[in-house]
Parts: sequence; C-alpha cells; structure tokens
Amino acid sequence: MCGIVAYVGRKIAQPLLIEGLKRLEYRGYDSAGIAVIDQKGAMHIRRAVGRISVLEDALQRVPTLPDASLGMAHTRWATHGAPTEANAHPHTDDTGRIALVHNGIIENYAALKKFLTNKGHAFSSQTDTEVLAMLIGDLYADMQVKNQVLPGTSLLQQAVQAALHEVDGTYGIAVICKDEPDTLVVARKGSPLIIGVGQEEYIVASDASAIVEHTTQVVYLNDNEMAVLKPGSFRTTTINNITISPVISQLENKLEEYELGDYEHYMLKEIFEQPSAIRNCLRGRAEQKESRIVLGGIVDHTRELVRAKRFILTGQGTAWHAGLVGDYLMEDLAKVTTECTYASEFRYRNPLVEEGTVVVAISQSGETADTLAALREAKEKGALALGIVNVVGSTIARETDGGIYLHAGPEIGVASTKAFTCQCVVLTMLALFLGRRKFMSQSVCHEMIDGLCAVPEQIERVLEQSDHVKQIAREFCDRENWLFLGRGYHFPVALEGALKLKEISYIHSEGMPAAEMKHGPIALINEGMPVVFIATKGSQYDKVISNIEEVRARGGKIIVVATEGDTNIHKYSDHVIEVPHALEPLQPLLSVVPLQLLAYHCAVARDCNVDKPRNLAKSVTVE
Ligand code: G6P
Repeated sequence: MCGIVAYVGRKIAQPLLIEGLKRLEYRGYDSAGIAVIDQKGAMHIRRAVGRISVLEDALQRVPTLPDASLGMAHTRWATHGAPTEANAHPHTDDTGRIALVHNGIIENYAALKKFLTNKGHAFSSQTDTEVLAMLIGDLYADMQVKNQVLPGTSLLQQAVQAALHEVDGTYGIAVICKDEPDTLVVARKGSPLIIGVGQEEYIVASDASAIVEHTTQVVYLNDNEMAVLKPGSFRTTTINNITISPVISQLENKLEEYELGDYEHYMLKEIFEQPSAIRNCLRGRAEQKESRIVLGGIVDHTRELVRAKRFILTGQGTAWHAGLVGDYLMEDLAKVTTECTYASEFRYRNPLVEEGTVVVAISQSGETADTLAALREAKEKGALALGIVNVVGSTIARETDGGIYLHAGPEIGVASTKAFTCQCVVLTMLALFLGRRKFMSQSVCHEMIDGLCAVPEQIERVLEQSDHVKQIAREFCDRENWLFLGRGYHFPVALEGALKLKEISYIHSEGMPAAEMKHGPIALINEGMPVVFIATKGSQYDKVISNIEEVRARGGKIIVVATEGDTNIHKYSDHVIEVPHALEPLQPLLSVVPLQLLAYHCAVARDCNVDKPRNLAKSVTVE
C-alpha cells in the first residue's frame, strides 16, 4: 500500500527521500509528498497528484526546498479521500508545527475528528491521517502549556505516545515537529516499518528496498513499538514508553536485486528470473542423491506436522492461487486433508480449528493485512501456524511458529510471478517432506525430487518462446473478454492466468475448471473470443480435448498450453504454446509461465503500465 521513507542525519535529505520514494513507488502511486525541516526550524512541504516524477517536477520549481537533514516522504494508495493534493501526505496539524506520514487506517477517525473540530481545529483534507496529525498537534500544545516533558523524552515523543493511545486501527507513521528540528519519531502497529541504522544517520522505510542502498543494518519495529531518532542516537520503546533493546539484523538482499537492469519492466525481469529464483529456493533443501527434503524452518515441528489431521492453506491473490495448487499437492503427495481458503474469509467466519490443525499463511510480502489477521486468528485458536513467505523479517515471518522462506529475491512488479512459482515449489517440498515420512516410497520421492530439480532448466526452455507468445498477444490483445480453463492441477493455473491478464491489461478474464464452463460460462462464448486451455499430457488430457471441442463449436479462438511434441493438439487449436513434459504435480510450474508472458505482452501491446497497474498495490496492508 502506501510507502513511507524518512531520514535524519547529516546528509541533505531531499535527494535521498526522493530516491527512496522511487523504490517504494510500487506500493502506491496515486499521489506523493515530502516534508523537511531546515536548520532554522522551518517546515517545508510539497505534494503532488500522480507518480513520483510529478512530485520531482514540482520540486524543481522555484522556490525549491532549502537543504535540510531531517525529512520524510510518502507515496499514497488512497483509502480515505480521493487522490488529490489536499489528501496527499504529509499532513500537518492546523498550526503547521507537526507533520506526519502514515500507512494504515485510523478506524475511529470520525469520532476523533468530531472531538477535535469541537475544540476549534480546522481540517483541510478528507483523510484519517490528518486527524492523527491534528491530535498529535493538539496534545503537543497542551503538554507544552503544562510544561509536562518527562526526563529523557522529547515532547514530540510524548505527544505521539499520547495520541496513539487514543487511536484504533493500524499505522506505520513518521512524525516531525518544527520545534524539534533534529528529531524523527516513528511508530508502528499493523503496518511495517524498518529502521536502517547508518553512520550517525537513520533511514526509516516501510520496506527494505528504500534502505538497502544506504545500509544493510536494520531494526524491525514490532507492533506497538516506536523509536525516537536523532543524528547519531536512537531509542526504541513501546508506545507506553518502556525502553526496548533494539535487535540489529542484517538485510539479505543486495542493491542489484532491486535494479531493473536491461529489462524493460520489473515484471518481465521477474518472469525471466524464475529459473534462478527456483534454484535458490531448492538450494540445500531438495537433495537429489539422498532423495531427501531438508526444511530447517519447520524441522522442529516434524512430529506435529506428520500427525496433523488437517492443513488449512491461506493467502490472498496470487498467493491464494499457489495455496490452491498446494491443496492438490498436499492431498496427492502427503495424503492429508487440506483446504485452501481466502485469508479474508477465514478470519471472520469463526473457523473450526480442531486439535491437529496446521494453518499455513502464504504471502510474498509477509505483510498482507488479511493474511496476517488469519494467521493471528489461527494461533488464537491453538493451531500450529507456519508461513511461506518471501520477505525475510516480515511480520508474518516473525509471527509464525515456523516456516519456509521462498528465497526468490525482491519482487517489485505488482503482478506476482516468481513468487507464485516459488510458492508452488515450497508447497511441493512441504508435501514431499510430509509424504516421505508417511506413505511415500523412496523411489517416488526420488522421481519427484529429480523432476523438481529439472524445473529451472525446463522454464528456461519455456522462456525461449516469449516472442511466439508475443505474436499471440498482439493478435488478441484487443479482445475484451477471455476465458482460462484447466482441470486438476491446472485449475489454479487457469485462475492465475486470468488474474495476471486482468490486473495488468484491464481485460476482463475468468479462470475456472474446464468442466465448469458448461454450467453457465459457455453462454459467453461467441465468435472470436479467446479461450486459453491448459492441456498438457496427463490424466485429464482427453477430457480437456472434449472441452476444447465444445468451445470450437461455438466459434471461440483456442490458445493451448500443451506438452512439447504433442502433434495431436494442433488440430484442435488456433495457437499452441509448448511446455516440456513434467510429472503432473510439477506441471503448474511450467504451464503458468506462458500465461504470465501472455499477460505481459498483452499489457505492453495495450500500452498499460505493467509494473504499476491502476488501482493496485503490491502489498495490501489494509483490510
Ligand atoms: C496484492 C498483489 C498481488 C498479491 C496479493 C497477496 O493483491 O497485487 O500480486 O498476490 O496482494 O500478496 P502477498 O504479499 O500476501 O503474497
């Protein structure tokens, strides 16, 4: 969702903040803003509607901002109030003394606004954030009058603490005050904040991408924690002012991993990174010689996992689709009752979590609000909670009882690609880990591990067809309705193919089990409608061919993802994209790749902003 970056130190803050915002832009991009406090204690704010580049242009105009070593910036994904300049962050109190950037939602903002309005404060935006800025300002003024500064604290820190006690909802905030021109106060509850610790300087951001260029030493703030940062010193406390010793961690990812390199878009880069991402994901875990799966992050729970009666896989968006693949894998390979459920539904339906239930939260970012809430609900009800997460140190990763990291490297493109395939790889390893300890023979496990280790090279072969897929995309990119159909393991792939297309091309597309088409959606098929089938050689091949016939008979255009060397399929199709043969449980890892490419090339042909599709955010940290 929104991105926050803040700086206090000795350098000039503005270029650093803008650079940070650009790295965070994938989190939200409807408006952006910056606030700095100069040496004389004057606050300067600029805000602009649109991308960071629009803000950059605004900053070029005279009067430019003076040099300042304290400041913060924000890129917004609107929740309360339209994307206008007035609603863009930073927000200030009505004296202009306090400025604040915020990620999250203040749920009781209406009541607080009424209270503050009755006290005579005037608001200039429709946001919940301005209410928090005003509340801090109001409390600050009160405390100043009463001369209430506690020893060892700053008035700003105290005012922020007092305000946060009045607030319901979620926040990651950075606050500055022109009366304290060397102090940055940050706090979190439900929205991530990371403090980068440099040489007499601190850079705080909502994710590591804005920090890694400056330092790899970081402190992850936990919920209900805050920090007061001054050049050369910082103090972390709870919001009740209890001092906490900060734990300094090392960032895993390198700066190059966040760079676009020679690619035109992050999404394309990430599609092409899948072979190396999967190799990293498998490294040290899938041992071909011993036919063994080694999963250090869950090994301590082996007994509970092997005895578990039921697995619930949960996530949102693409992660949920990976969970659906996992559902098939777990029942097929580990022979354990499994269901995959949307985290947003799980958390509110008072789910049945009996003894022996394991809940697995799947999330690329590790910050998705609904997935995190589902995880907390599962823990509350006594389930063993595992995470399948990409971002190391993220909230979900830290709150689970154990888990398996993807090691896919940073994913910047809003449409998830390499995280999906790595999530499927991890779920395959989890199913094999359990299956082998239950009923699976060594030879079956051996065959599966060999198959898994061959996947990166097989994906490389699929990627060679990018130009062929581009031709198909060009032919059909102007069609406004598409269907994606598959059976068994390919049903979730059909969902994922449709999601990719709709999110970045704004084309209406639906994915469903091929057999379901006859129960309604077939009515949609008309002359020339593109219908994508995943029809690789496997147990349901003949059935899918029958479904293809049904669509052809009604004039649909047939695009098929088929097994290399399947000459038969050509007579049923308008276009064929070949993928190498693989064992059935591994086929999704290959068949999804042409669909990612198809969506990508359609979006480019339609001139859409591939990496920053309208209305979407990479990491959805609000419900
Ligand atoms: C957003 C993103 C999707 C992603 C989903 C879940 O909707 O646009 O690409 O699949 O969130 O994100 P997570 O980080 O939990 O995997």
